[in-house]
Amino acid sequence: MATEQRPFHLVVFGASGFTGQFVTEEVAREQIASEQSSRLPWAVAGRSKEKLQQVLEKAAQKLGRPSLSSEVGVIICDISNPASLDEMAKQAKLVLNCVGPYRFYGEPVVKACIENGTSCIDICGEPQFLELMHAKYHEKAAEKGVYIIGSSGFDSIPADLGVLYTRNQMNGTLTAVESFLTINTGPEGLCIHDGTWKSAIYGFGDKGSLRKLRSVSCLKPVPIVGTKLKRRWPVSYCRELNSYSIPFLGSDISVVKRTQRYLHENLEDSPMDETSFTMTFFGQGYSHGTCVEKNKPNIRICTQVKGPEAGYVATPIAMVQAAMTFLSDASDLPKGGGVFTPGAAFSRTKLIDRLNKHGIEFSVISSSEV
Ligand SMILES: NC(=O)c1ccc[n+]([C@@H]2O[C@H](COP(=O)([O-])OP(=O)(O)OC[C@H]3O[C@@H](n4cnc5c(N)ncnc54)[C@H](OP(=O)(O)O)[C@@H]3O)[C@@H](O)[C@H]2O)c1
Repeated sequence: MATEQRPFHLVVFGASGFTGQFVTEEVAREQIASEQSSRLPWAVAGRSKEKLQQVLEKAAQKLGRPSLSSEVGVIICDISNPASLDEMAKQAKLVLNCVGPYRFYGEPVVKACIENGTSCIDICGEPQFLELMHAKYHEKAAEKGVYIIGSSGFDSIPADLGVLYTRNQMNGTLTAVESFLTINTGPEGLCIHDGTWKSAIYGFGDKGSLRKLRSVSCLKPVPIVGTKLKRRWPVSYCRELNSYSIPFLGSDISVVKRTQRYLHENLEDSPMDETSFTMTFFGQGYSHGTCVEKNKPNIRICTQVKGPEAGYVATPIAMVQAAMTFLSDASDLPKGGGVFTPGAAFSRTKLIDRLNKHGIEFSVISSSEV
């Protein structure tokens, strides 16, 4: 890992975005809670100085820390200007990249980070982006000793770490896991998770929200309700009958941006604190000493990961705790660097303990001999 002195331990790139503002707030919260001596110098980065300052002022007000703006660096950086990306990367050990959609904006950041010996964590929910980055940059990242860790938000920390937790809690060898996601939207809730590139956006909302979403004419929503939803999208299990999941098929940047704008406007008026997620894992495997070739699996385990609203509360917590783990437990990361999923990067670290302390809770529901 690059070790030379740099002015900032971490930089939140895209701090002015809807998610970036919450990530900024979460970093500030983490730093304020730390002992003075262990606080890390950090910065926000983006293309508008004014917007970055507004984000810092908002966080300062929310956290009751008027001096925040003067404690945090500001770096001006635009994806379309590679030199500015290099400059940002050179100043930090770790970039928290919140500039998406990643299939349009992500690669130049990965490239600049690797070239400048800087590690990077993102919250991408687009699986093909991480696959592409692994194929193109894993070896280069390893040569430079830097870590590019993708999908470290709600996608896919609870899923990845949930499987690892299930494996670690099993009294034997885990051989299969099935997982189910429940989103609780609350009585009035509108929780919209902007997910993978193929399905682009999953919306969980009430009927009124859906009617409004359908009126965004450039979108082609495919509404799937109730049991049909469970059949077609088993990972998105909706407990309430009036909860829906709608995949929007579109990879055009203007469609994605317009949809995001709509979602952000509606989310600002929505009570995110009434929303939560539960991910349940059913694992099976073999107890110690059982011959795998000759026997059927003979132990089962059920575990859960529970947390607050997925997109903009759990995601910043997951990303920031991943960053803190990266910065504090470097010796527990895979040796040498490369491009990683969160599970591959953090399997030997204490990230689960950190998440447990920050509201994303892992627990064993049941464990039994079959
Ligand atoms: N994994 C998860 O569970 C999860 C959860 C939430 C979000 N996400 C992902 O996070 C990403 C951001 O989402 P969002 O809702 O926060 O989007 P957003 O509000 O549109 O924010 C985008 C950010 O990117 C910046 N940006 C855009 N073009 C840029 C450029 N050329 N140079 C520098 N900065 C640029 C914007 O800066 P300006 O303010 O200057 O426009 C803004 O800060 C998306 O890819 C989303 O899918 C993932």
